[in-house]
Order: sequence, then C-alpha cells, then structure tokens
Amino acid sequence: MEKTFIMVKPDGVKRQLVGEIVSRFEKRGYTLADAKLMTISRETAESHYGEHSDKPFFGELVDFITSGPVFAMVWEGENVIENARTMMGATNPKDAAPGSIRGDYAVNVGQNIVHGSDSPESAEREIALFF
Ligand code: PPS
Repeated sequence: MEKTFIMVKPDGVKRQLVGEIVSRFEKRGYTLADAKLMTISRETAESHYGEHSDKPFFGELVDFITSGPVFAMVWEGENVIENARTMMGATNPKDAAPGSIRGDYAVNVGQNIVHGSDSPESAEREIALFF
C-alpha cells in the first residue's frame, strides 16, 4: 500500500490544527501508520530541504521548520501521495483552493501549515529521515 510523509509545521502545531489535519486524512479514508511530535534539528531540516539549498529563502525555511515542534506522520492508502497534495492545496496559500488545508487555514507561503511528499521517491526518503 502506498505511503506518504505528512508533517504539520510549527505554525500548524501552535495554531492547534493537528487534530483538524489528522481528521481530514482519516475522513478521506487513509490510515495513520506512524506519528510523533518532535523538534527537528538543523541537520535534519537541511537534509529534508536539501534540494532547495540554493534558494534565497533556504535559511528562512530552516529557521522556521526548527522554530518549534512539528507533528510528523506517515499516512497510507490508495494514491495517498497525490491525493494528500490535493488535500493540502497549492504551496503558496494565495493559490490554494478553498476546501484545501492551506486554502482554509494559511495566507503566507513561508508559513503554510503542512508539508507532504511530492513523489514516491521523496516519500521513501522523507519517511526514512524522520522515522
Ligand atoms: S520551488 O522554488 O518551486 O522549488 O519551491 P517550492 O517547491 O514552491 O517550495 C519548497 C518549500 O519551500 C517553502 N517556500 C518558502 N519558504 C519561505 N519563504 C518563501 N518565500 C518560500 N517559498 C517556498 C515552501 O513552503 C516549500 O515547503 P514544503 O515544506 O515543501 O511545503
């Protein structure tokens, strides 16, 4: 069964959106396979976002994701990687459809509530990095 890595970012945890996000995945029909509340080290953050290391916002991204606890999860089920991306909405909340997590709860691209793997390769790499 397909698995993906989903993480409620520090802004989502602070805003007490963990339950809401878990609930959306449960109601969609997906199964929670693993989960933990954790604070990410800078080393793990830099590895997780390694492909963006040359972007101007990389430092800000690492500062933000290490700024407080995140809720890391593994979800499993049919087509979960692609469907989770749709459920999260566009990366930039200004483009995220109402009804999606970012479309309902976020306004800023730097603080967009949730992360989800974008491919089977990323899912495998990210699950191994966090669990
Ligand atoms: S890119 O440039 O298209 O490859 O980047 P993108 O895939 O859109 O975003 C990668 C992650 O970086 C975050 N991001 C930002 N953080 C801070 N400031 C700015 N301007 C910014 N732009 C993008 C974005 O939320 C993505 O994080 P994840 O965790 O993958 O959603």
